Amino acid sequence: MSHLTDQHRKPQAPIHVEGQMLDDIVRASLSRRTVLKGGLGASLLAVFGVAGLSGCSDDDNGSSSADYNVGFKAVDANTLDTVTVPEGYTVEVMFSAGDAVAAGAVAYAGTPQSSAETELQAGGNHDGMHFFELPGVNPNKGGLLAINHENYDDTIMLSGVDALETREQKRIALSAVGVSVIEVELASNGKWQVKKNSPYNKRYTGNTLYRVSGPAAAAVGGTVVGTLNNCASGATPWGTYLTCEETTENYFDPSQPELGYGWVVEIDPRGELAGLPVKRTALGRFDHENTAYLLGSDNTLAVYLGDDSTPGCIYKFVPNAKVNPNDRAANTNLLDEGTLYAARFNADGSGDWIALVQGQNGLVVGATDPGNTTQGSQTPATIDFATQADVLINTKAAARVAGATLMDRPEWIAVGPDKTVYATLTNNSGRKVTDAANPRVSNRHGSIIKWKEAGDAPDATSFEWEIFLLAGDPSLANETGNLVGDINGDTFSSPDGIRVDPENRLWVQTDMSVPGSSGVSGKTNVDVFGHNAMYAIDQTTRESKRFLVGPQGCEITGIAYTPDLKTFFINIQHPNGSWPSAELPPRSSTVVVRRQDGKPVGA
Ligand code: FEO
Ligand code: CA
Ligand code: CA
Repeated sequence: MSHLTDQHRKPQAPIHVEGQMLDDIVRASLSRRTVLKGGLGASLLAVFGVAGLSGCSDDDNGSSSADYNVGFKAVDANTLDTVTVPEGYTVEVMFSAGDAVAAGAVAYAGTPQSSAETELQAGGNHDGMHFFELPGVNPNKGGLLAINHENYDDTIMLSGVDALETREQKRIALSAVGVSVIEVELASNGKWQVKKNSPYNKRYTGNTLYRVSGPAAAAVGGTVVGTLNNCASGATPWGTYLTCEETTENYFDPSQPELGYGWVVEIDPRGELAGLPVKRTALGRFDHENTAYLLGSDNTLAVYLGDDSTPGCIYKFVPNAKVNPNDRAANTNLLDEGTLYAARFNADGSGDWIALVQGQNGLVVGATDPGNTTQGSQTPATIDFATQADVLINTKAAARVAGATLMDRPEWIAVGPDKTVYATLTNNSGRKVTDAANPRVSNRHGSIIKWKEAGDAPDATSFEWEIFLLAGDPSLANETGNLVGDINGDTFSSPDGIRVDPENRLWVQTDMSVPGSSGVSGKTNVDVFGHNAMYAIDQTTRESKRFLVGPQGCEITGIAYTPDLKTFFINIQHPNGSWPSAELPPRSSTVVVRRQDGKPVGA
């Protein structure tokens, strides 16, 4: 969650106070080259066009694996009001809040517009994002981007409005959240652009209708108006987009029943599959961050999920059925039946997946919810889990009852080609009671944790974990020692976006509060770390290199790429200076990063 979301949420829903600012995906888990040389991966590529799964093989571009080794010259921390990329790279703004999306849209040009107009434009606060291939289109030169909009950009709409009161104000705010699907193409001038009037260009907003499926559908209702607070996201092996609702209430329009929110919503960016978009209740209801999947060689699937709460748990959903790699439509309802688990990180480095199934693990009528024990002993509450719908609607409480570990705000989860799973724990300055996986009281700068499933099996019920790194900076040495961290190289605070690309390079994006407090008197976060930024981190040496620095006030989030990894799409969320242009107010934007010599990004 971003601090702007917190600001916008508070006047609308003062009961939802988290106490502090709250805040992709993987390809199939088979190694890329194995994938490309036949078998399941080739089938998935042919049938589903899942980018990241389908990168160019060595043969396609004449590159060997070594060509992808991280080799860029790291950029220094800075406070420039621009996007800084390494020497030899270009960065272009492609898609900003208010840009035209759907047919008939009139782009924002500096004056406030009606909800009818904003409903057809790019929403605000660009966040999670995924690149999808299109049949018959060279994926290195064109495809679809699905982009989450966490919030509206109050620089271009509803400026100065503290609480949404009129129906039109609510409709405007709700038009600017949700998802944009845009067709993008590499134009003859060498720049990526939105393909105007593409039939794929579409908005999913807080005003449009969503079907509800899965075990809690009857309790929620058959349909819900709106998706909102669409934070991070993920993709499925069958080429659909999972957009995650990071709120369990409609704080822009509280007249809507709150059970309608806090779900993962499945969208088909190609618009082919019947019954979509749909809210998948089997994946639980909480402050969803992103999804990432692990696909076994036998097509068993796990979908990982984080709850960006202070604190929140880490989950995975294992469908009962296996992925059908040959028939896209056969997977349409795969996410409706299966088992939702919550993670317990034991002190000895082992971990357990605890099934959140009614009747098991204490999930019964009259269960005892221990509450937020990271704050010390709490007064337990009694909660009734009479049905599986009760479990799914009250997932956070179910995880606590079942004994899952309360983590320092899980943001993104990512799965690497070797099936290592990473999760960013962005920060939790309010933590009072530590455990092995969350070892710092007042964890102001966050950490990254990683684990491997037993036997690398998506449906394993145990795993082995370790802390990958503790964020912070050596200049923050003080008596508590909690602010230094152990980063090797370029330091950062508050990891949020994380993704392992098909060449096994780990990318981390930050969302520290800016200017924020570093924890040392007189030093802001920006004083220590510069603006929010994006880093490449070696998974073995753990060396961190700063790749990109954002403009004033922004969070860096969203990471997507073409299969040849020569084009990276990155989101700049809620800038507040004069970027991206001096003529219009600052706007959240998707930027395109490429190399001038045309080689893969990052190498
Ligand atoms: Fe949109 Fe949890 O950050
Ligand atoms: Ca965040
Ligand atoms: Ca985030």
